[in-house]
Amino acid sequence: MVLKDKQVVITGAGGGIGSQIALAFARKGANLALVDRNTERLAGVASSCRAEGVKVKTISADITTAEGRTRIINETESALGPVDVLVNNAGIMVFKSVLEHTEEDILNTLMVNVFAVIRLTQAVLPRMIERSSGRIVNIGSVFGSLSFPYFSIYSASKSAIKGFSEGLRRELDGTGVGVTYIAPRGTRTSQSATFFEMAKKMGMNLDDPEKVGAIVARSVEKEANEVFIGMPERLFVLMNKLMPSAVDKGLRKQAKILAEYSLKC
Ligand SMILES: NC(=O)c1ccc[n+]([C@@H]2O[C@H](COP(=O)([O-])OP(=O)(O)OC[C@H]3O[C@@H](n4cnc5c(N)ncnc54)[C@H](O)[C@@H]3O)[C@@H](O)[C@H]2O)c1
Repeated sequence: MVLKDKQVVITGAGGGIGSQIALAFARKGANLALVDRNTERLAGVASSCRAEGVKVKTISADITTAEGRTRIINETESALGPVDVLVNNAGIMVFKSVLEHTEEDILNTLMVNVFAVIRLTQAVLPRMIERSSGRIVNIGSVFGSLSFPYFSIYSASKSAIKGFSEGLRRELDGTGVGVTYIAPRGTRTSQSATFFEMAKKMGMNLDDPEKVGAIVARSVEKEANEVFIGMPERLFVLMNKLMPSAVDKGLRKQAKILAEYSLKC
């Protein structure tokens, strides 16, 4: 897909990865509707994108509400026109044991990471199908294919979105509308200093959000179906499919570090 002059909606565009996805799309000449519930962050991202010479509309909305989602579609269509690409990037990650997750933690995770993604997709799809063109981009996680202890609820949400993306892609076959699922590995964004300390102890690979943003834009250009970022992580995911009990054993030492830090982060 040629991104120049396309209309692209990006949720969570005020955040670490979302802001870099926005910039990468702007550099390709796409016009942008930048969505976040945090309005302050959006302004800075919007001005960097405008400097690339594209049209930018900022939309302050909570994607978990019907009102927010309706406004996202209406405001995008009146400012830019019909949506060509929807990037479902907004996400939240709660790092706790299963027992420590409150009802609110679980609901928030599933509402932002799963429910809102599905409802926003439903909102843009009819016009994409009508125009035989468009792409849904879902930002998952390597944890959607390989669950770590203390990330179970987050992993459940990302596995759900992986399954949703795969089924939707097959359902849309022949319509001209595509689906791209992207699974980043650890990326330096809004996590705490304690989290980064833990990541170092665990030998976790961490990417810069700029790299992830560029990969997302390139994957949409290439109309890729599934993209996993990081070779060791890809191999680890494969190993988890073929020999999950070996991964269980391999993660025992890591689980101790995770247990210690889940109380501190
Ligand atoms: N950072 C990582 O290590 C990592 C790794 C793999 C996948 N991911 C995924 O990448 C995506 C972006 O992550 P990030 O690290 O940049 O997160 P972040 O916390 O830096 O940014 C997320 C943004 O989403 C916005 N947001 C959250 N809930 C919202 C809602 N209800 N309505 C509107 N906006 C909302 C927040 O305000 C924030 O600006 C997420 O889906 C995350 O799960 C992140």
